[in-house]
Amino acid sequence: MSVTFATAPATAADGLGVWPSSARPAPGGDVTVAGVSLAEAADRFGTPLYVLDEGEVRDRCRAYRAAFPDADVVYAAKAFLCRAVSRWIEEEGLGLDVCSAGELGLATTAGFPAARIVLHGNAKSPDDLSTALRLGVGRIVLDSAPEIARLAGLVPDGDRQPVMVRVVPGIAAGGHAKIRTGTEDQKFGLSVTDGSAQHAIARVLARPRLELVGLHCHIGSQITSVKPYVAAVRRMVGLMTQVRDHHGLELPQLNIGGGHGIAYRPGEPVLGPAVLAARVRAELEDGCAHARLPVPRLTVEPGRALVGPAGVAVYRVLTVKETAGRTFVAVDGGMSDNPRPALYGARYAPRLIGRGSTAAPAVVTVVGRHCEAGDVLAEDVALPGDVRPGDLLAVPAAGAYQLSMASGYNLVGRPPVVAVRDGVVRLLVRRESLADLSSRDIGL
Ligand code: LLP
Repeated sequence: MSVTFATAPATAADGLGVWPSSARPAPGGDVTVAGVSLAEAADRFGTPLYVLDEGEVRDRCRAYRAAFPDADVVYAAKAFLCRAVSRWIEEEGLGLDVCSAGELGLATTAGFPAARIVLHGNAKSPDDLSTALRLGVGRIVLDSAPEIARLAGLVPDGDRQPVMVRVVPGIAAGGHAKIRTGTEDQKFGLSVTDGSAQHAIARVLARPRLELVGLHCHIGSQITSVKPYVAAVRRMVGLMTQVRDHHGLELPQLNIGGGHGIAYRPGEPVLGPAVLAARVRAELEDGCAHARLPVPRLTVEPGRALVGPAGVAVYRVLTVKETAGRTFVAVDGGMSDNPRPALYGARYAPRLIGRGSTAAPAVVTVVGRHCEAGDVLAEDVALPGDVRPGDLLAVPAAGAYQLSMASGYNLVGRPPVVAVRDGVVRLLVRRESLADLSSRDIGL
């Protein structure tokens, strides 16, 4: 199931605890990932560079499928999507969660079977809905009352679209207020407490062109405890019982979303699939037995946990500046390729690579090159005291929600993505060039 390595897997002792498990220290202060030198890759493809360990992504998919053998494991494409990742996910037998016609179109043109795709979104556009119907996505998760009528109106005569209703279970969980989606005070889903979820279910059931196959909830992201999932399952089984009692319908599916936390820095907690699967299954089986409901088929939607730990971002240091008692190490990327520190106060653990150093560690702040004081990548981190322009810094756990949230700020161009596997590096997404940027800018 997992890849066999010639040497011991990365351990906390070599400082590579949150790196892809294929990462190894190499001579001259270099690090290899899947047998590929990061310093050489940086020289060949330039910096900033995003490196994705294909074996790590595949191993993580397999660990999920092994932990959830009777469930559908659906990758949340918003974490990071390109054609190659879509292919790996497809080959590993997972489904795909998309939230726009863009993600849907990219995946299907790369050959992803539409039947294994779930469409989400709190405000799907007419284009999202009609593209989903035209391509035949497996499930559409409805998120508001107007959307029910809108979708039903688009389904052709004689067809039935399988749908779910997104429910707010009323549970607070998640690594930051901006990524908590299980409570009433945010835009996603329909509330059980005020009855809008029950109302939406009744409306869906009144539409013959919509087939209600189950309920969905997604309580938040970067969650490191299993408890909120257990509580969410309990609430969802409660609502499924109400649906059975009021409508005589035993819903065959339950989707509990994603949100499983990863470690960005050594020592941080993670929520592994095995623990999650055991507790969720136990709660689901007990709850259903108690309510005398058949156990629904489960779906989980991990995004970050599949690709986050597989990615490493590599930057080159442009300047080092001492000011007011602080040392700012400025690199050639920043908030345009990783907005997470600015948005959520996310913390990372950068590492000097490509040369050895015996200098004592110094506390520095790694900043980006963008025209904004908030463009900070890693505040108060320890790096060798002699870090200088031209050095390479690598940031692990960079595979999720960085490039997928990249912006065009300051027109620096978005970085390329390379895949590494068995000592081979290959370009997946090329660097955004001035020609790319100016090709859209057609007025004068
Ligand atoms: N399912 C649904 C319906 C979602 O909205 C999401 C994420 C997922 C699954 C996958 O969640 P994951 O397993 O990746 O946590 N930009 C933020 C994270 C936003 C998550 C949005 N929804 C960040 O960088 O932390």
